[in-house]
Amino acid sequence: MGGSNKAGKHPMLKAITCGLLLLFAAIITPAQPAASAFDAASKVFRLDGGNVSYLFGVNPRGELQQLYWGGKLAATDNFKQAVPLREAASFDSSYTTTPQEYAGWGAGLYVEPALKVTFAEGNRDLVLHYDSHELTQNGVNVVLKDIKRYVFVTLHYSIDPESGILARLATIENREPQPVRVEEAAAAAWSLPPAHYSLNYLTGRWAGEWTLNQETLHPGERVIESRRGSTGHQANPWFAIQTGDPDEEHGEVWFGALAWSGSWRITFEQDQLDAVRVVGGFNPFDFGYVLHPGQSLETPIFYGGYSSHGLGGASRLLHRFEISQILPRRVGTGPSAAPKPRPVIYNSWEATEMNVTEAGQIALAEKAAALGVDRFVMDDGWFGQRKTDHAGLGDWYVNSEKFPHGLKPLIDKVHSLHMDFGLWVEPEMVNPDSDLYRKHPEWVLNMPGRPRSEARNQLVLNLARPDVRAYVLSFLDKLLTENDIAFLKWDYNRNWSEPGWDQLPPTEQKKVYVEFTRNLYFILAELKRRHPKVELESCSGGGGRVDLGILKYADEVWPSDNTDPFDRLTQQDGFTYPYTAQVMMAWVTDSPHWLNKRSTSLTYRMLSSMQGSLGIGANITKWTDEETATVKRLIASYHEAQPTIVQGDLYRLISPRNGSEFSATQTVNRGKSQSVVFAFIHSTQEGRTFPKLKLKGLDPAAQYAVTPIDGKLQPGSPEVASGAYWMNHGMDMSEEFRGDFQGAAFRLDKK
Ligand code: GLA
Repeated sequence: MGGSNKAGKHPMLKAITCGLLLLFAAIITPAQPAASAFDAASKVFRLDGGNVSYLFGVNPRGELQQLYWGGKLAATDNFKQAVPLREAASFDSSYTTTPQEYAGWGAGLYVEPALKVTFAEGNRDLVLHYDSHELTQNGVNVVLKDIKRYVFVTLHYSIDPESGILARLATIENREPQPVRVEEAAAAAWSLPPAHYSLNYLTGRWAGEWTLNQETLHPGERVIESRRGSTGHQANPWFAIQTGDPDEEHGEVWFGALAWSGSWRITFEQDQLDAVRVVGGFNPFDFGYVLHPGQSLETPIFYGGYSSHGLGGASRLLHRFEISQILPRRVGTGPSAAPKPRPVIYNSWEATEMNVTEAGQIALAEKAAALGVDRFVMDDGWFGQRKTDHAGLGDWYVNSEKFPHGLKPLIDKVHSLHMDFGLWVEPEMVNPDSDLYRKHPEWVLNMPGRPRSEARNQLVLNLARPDVRAYVLSFLDKLLTENDIAFLKWDYNRNWSEPGWDQLPPTEQKKVYVEFTRNLYFILAELKRRHPKVELESCSGGGGRVDLGILKYADEVWPSDNTDPFDRLTQQDGFTYPYTAQVMMAWVTDSPHWLNKRSTSLTYRMLSSMQGSLGIGANITKWTDEETATVKRLIASYHEAQPTIVQGDLYRLISPRNGSEFSATQTVNRGKSQSVVFAFIHSTQEGRTFPKLKLKGLDPAAQYAVTPIDGKLQPGSPEVASGAYWMNHGMDMSEEFRGDFQGAAFRLDKK
């Protein structure tokens, strides 16, 4: 020490020297690899972001070959030119065994292609080779071209510097003198080397969304998809592949999410050499997009990420990415950008269904305001001749029997109660019993001469048509211009049938799969531009339209029509694998529940919903003073900790899946100054007490004080202890915490 002190005898001088040394060290430390780079000698592209490196190169044949996707490599790690994989006997050409970034169906390709086309004269062979590239700020655009024909594909890559999540999409361009029909077009193909992998994906049905499936990947192809015209309840365009068996907090995970709200498909294929290819984009079923000379087709974006901290780590990366990069109305820039936590809403649907009236809604609004609700939303039933679901969709004028003076008196009342006002709409649909359908029967998806299959007594307007797009945009614009509306719950209550577009020549009609969804995005973007303050919820009979495409416009989503608080625990668990609790609306509704006939306490219902973005959907005019007081108290506690709950790092401590007796989640804010723990019991058996909860993600050296939101810790538990204590020793719930459908919640604050 004495020797090293010689230069800086004076403390001030020492501090300055230290500062200068640090500055110098920062300058001479080898620079982090640029976000994107190309090595001309080896023809290798490299993308670095967060803790991730992604490398691919041009092999001697000219194909774009994947080289590496995983944890960050050192800047000094150089790669040689990509070497194609061997021909695996005469049955598996090198073209098929080599992991290509975007393989055309041609030559001897037997794995899932990224692109399949038919040329005008019948040729269907497409072999894409590197043509040129251009580095961008956080990525690269690589142009591929068929070995002979003038079909060009630009692969767009970018990497998020914070999370390392890659965004990939392709633009397919026809520079031939004749039309080219695109029959299969992926956004991206992801490749993983041979290993034992497990696949995680989400499936469901109406009122039963968000089931997490975990299975071993076997040889052959596993397909998840929607052929329904929209995202669908039945599968969600997200996956996570883990080496070995699924593990919440350990192990390598590669995950991806497709940003598309139309028919989609993702395939997982373990090939003949045990390598895995994941290909996703437009669903090729019934697909056919004709590109005339000079035209191009852009695919959706396929996001892909990597975590070395298990499925929990993958979710936390995606959540942060959604909050800072995807969701609309973010405040700030870079990794700290975030939308505001959602207002606590009241929604009238379960209380009144379509029986809405001015007086009835005002009575609900008065009660909602007394609870501490921020936003009052009137659901279905306010427009056209809407008494039941047999009529009215398409006629977006205010029903004068129910609202003789228009919406203004109700909206004014809601404002006077210090809440803002939201309204339900279902813009893409029409009931045959409506003025709109009587005037424009040609506006629906249909195939001439064929039946028009109804679902919930409604048909789907063909939003791909320019006149339908103009109509939908104009009635919504008028509604928002004439009324002081802060929020639209945008519903979509059926899937497509007979998806024809008879305005166009037969060869062009399948474009409906692309143009419908594009026009939906166009309308959402245009409404946002014209009415910047209006917020949106994506609902499709619950969680039928939740994906990273719609989340660029929707501030929140309705995960399920199933509001049973016990079912919701498992649904919310599944939902949070891909999606942040910021967008996960969760209402407290009446007990016994209409779907399962299960009775639960109000506190249990509140705590279940407080794990997400809270709403109330019960018939609150019937609540007793005691119930009102409970909800008021819990809404106030929720408001205090809401940013931590919905935007913090989520740890799924104990999963409610597979009939688990217990479940628990924990969130920690980014500064690690606050954490919230939720714990639930399904049904106590054999007197078992709640397991010790070992918390995660806290600062081990900091002191945290624990405050109950609802519930008790075991007598003798400290009120203040270090992060190390809560993480290593754990939290002991009171022994009294037993029974059926019980919940507890605690807040920890750094001292
Ligand atoms: C769908 C929604 C519900 C409600 C009804 C109204 O089912 O998911 O929340 O809005 O429509 O008809």
